Amino acid sequence: MRIFILFIPLLITPNLLAQKDIDINQKVDSLLNRMTLLEKIGQMNQLSADDMETNYELIRRGLAGSVLSITNPTVANKAQLVAVEESRLGIPIIIGRDVIHGFKTIFPIPLGQAASFDEELVQQGARIAAIEASSVGIRWTFAPMMDITRDPRWGRVAESLGEDPLLASKLAVAMVKGFQGDNLSNPDAIAACAKHFVGYGAAEGGRDYNTTLITERGFRNLYLKPFEATVKVANVATIMSSFNANDGIPATANKFLLKDILRDEWGFDGFVVSDWASVTEMIAHGFSENEKQAAMQAIKAGVDMEMVSGTYLANAEKLLEEKKISEENIDNAVRNILRVKFRLGLFDNPYVSSELKNVFYAPAHLEKAKEAAEESVVMLKNKNSTLPLKKVKKILVVGPLANMPHEQMGTWVFDGEASHTQTPLLALRKQYGEKVKIDYEPVLKYSRDNDISAFNKAVEKAKKADVILAFVGEESILSGEAHSLSDLHLQGAQSKLIKKLSDIEKPLITVIMAGRPLSIEDEIIQSDALLYAWHPGTMGGPAIADLLFGKANPSGRLPITFPKEVGQIPMYYNHLNTGRPPTGNDSQLDCIPVGALQTSLGNTSLYLDSGHEPLFPFGFGLSYSNFKYGEPKLKEKILSVNDTLNVSMELSNIGDYDGTEIVQLYIRDLYGSIARPVRELKDFQRVNLKAGENKVVHFQLPISQIAFWNINMEEIVEPGNFHMWISRDSKSGEPINFEVR
Ligand code: NOJ
Repeated sequence: MRIFILFIPLLITPNLLAQKDIDINQKVDSLLNRMTLLEKIGQMNQLSADDMETNYELIRRGLAGSVLSITNPTVANKAQLVAVEESRLGIPIIIGRDVIHGFKTIFPIPLGQAASFDEELVQQGARIAAIEASSVGIRWTFAPMMDITRDPRWGRVAESLGEDPLLASKLAVAMVKGFQGDNLSNPDAIAACAKHFVGYGAAEGGRDYNTTLITERGFRNLYLKPFEATVKVANVATIMSSFNANDGIPATANKFLLKDILRDEWGFDGFVVSDWASVTEMIAHGFSENEKQAAMQAIKAGVDMEMVSGTYLANAEKLLEEKKISEENIDNAVRNILRVKFRLGLFDNPYVSSELKNVFYAPAHLEKAKEAAEESVVMLKNKNSTLPLKKVKKILVVGPLANMPHEQMGTWVFDGEASHTQTPLLALRKQYGEKVKIDYEPVLKYSRDNDISAFNKAVEKAKKADVILAFVGEESILSGEAHSLSDLHLQGAQSKLIKKLSDIEKPLITVIMAGRPLSIEDEIIQSDALLYAWHPGTMGGPAIADLLFGKANPSGRLPITFPKEVGQIPMYYNHLNTGRPPTGNDSQLDCIPVGALQTSLGNTSLYLDSGHEPLFPFGFGLSYSNFKYGEPKLKEKILSVNDTLNVSMELSNIGDYDGTEIVQLYIRDLYGSIARPVRELKDFQRVNLKAGENKVVHFQLPISQIAFWNINMEEIVEPGNFHMWISRDSKSGEPINFEVR
């Protein structure tokens, strides 16, 4: 009986879904049949909320399908009322907003969330964001961003899920599931938008909006992976085309990517929106002569809705008349848009209660945001177990980021409020202030401050403290869109401050809040312990305070490589080996004799000054616990392409603290029809172990998951010899051989 009950939903759900889709497609077609050409083009037009009076008029005339950034429920309802009651066909609009890492309750920046390697928590964070955002009428977010990036100079690295295609895919899927909920038609579900399609994170030199040069194989083996996962696994409702031109072709006009791959190969049936004015920007790219041509190119390539630049509305009729686009182009775009509106249930109920529900900053939301912040923090150094803090009586808190609520929220926060944000200083005082005396001297007023006049005062205070806690990093505006940097050292006089404090014989704990990996080699050397907290959001303070005092144990792992210096970029773990793989890692500058004769012999692929190793590899992170890895045991070492690799390993927590280890499974395909990366992450698990506890960790990796796009541009597993590691990061562990026949 029990089995019967369990199976019913599984058997019925796909059919019901299919029937629902058939019904929706019928409704879409019947509506489309009644639409005038102009009404169809109107659906393809997205307005920004700047001038709502003009917008109401356009909506009334059926000339807008969406409005971006309405956040007031009364305005949202008025716009829907005009659409539904006053336009000829009563088609509701879809209200979109950048809800990137929270709406009111702000979670860590996505790069921070990625450090948690925790799909469930990431999904819960997106769910909370959807609940809060939908309560004001927002039913569409422009997230998740899943641009793979290998360049921390790029400001938008903060919004990304890091450098690895598997991690980014899993977390992007989790976010989409969280935003879209169990059913898109639930009033608290919001349509997700997989962005930016595609390759935007590979901007040359990390300079935002810059050119990319990615090959088809590069797209397929790397940049497309998270998009494919969100389409196929999570049914993402929408996709956003990116700003970059790849090999001279703007993504907003790339038919190969937008149609051949996205629609024909993957079967995506939601809609594609352009990025903000990315249609008209094709003129600046030098790809379109004028707005009319830009509109034609984007429509033909498969961009269904145009964000704010209005060229579709102005030109599509004429383009059709001149036969430069077809009716089919328009109808397909409108079908895609209407399908999503039906799926969202907007035709049944476009309105939202204008009484604000009590969901903003709800206690459960704050608790989750704290958990997410705790899990996002990566401990990069802990000399002599400086942390967690024990037996300290007097702490000196210094640094510009200790008490800057706005800055710790991070980039892409439009709705979260500083007044609700809990800083580390506040939390330390509130949570531990009764037991420990907490003195505070910001020294620098903000991260770029160069005024060192308060240094001596801080030094005097530090001498009287048991421990110094320095909160440094970046203001949130220094990362994010259009905020690329060419120098990744700490800004202003922050490095000087750390140096000065390290000269005092007191334990120095540095906490960095930033939107990207920074060049922190000196700070690592000078600090006794270092926590990398990213921009941790609303609850960053309480999370950091509990981590410092050991109520929580750091478990975050780097979702992106930390280079030593900007000059090493791009530096990423899943690189190719080269013909002269690097050996040795020390600076060679001192070894080369003056007047040395020209030779390359003996040299390998590294920098003479900074070697070939990063400061910290992908996957790295420390814990207060101490985990011992047993020898991985493979069930079978010779497998066929249809088999599953079974591997188990005993993990022991031999430390004094309960903790969580992120166990990582990597493989290397030793040779192929194209050269293969030195390591690829294929799976991971968060394993909780009490102090002294052991557990056998099992992985099951279908061999089909080690397929790649090969020399013939086919996605296949090429038989041969492989290495496999189960390790704590992308550099450690001993390889084990297996063979695929
Ligand atoms: C431009 C950004 O690139 C994109 O990510 C964002 O969603 C839109 N602006 C809308 O704000």
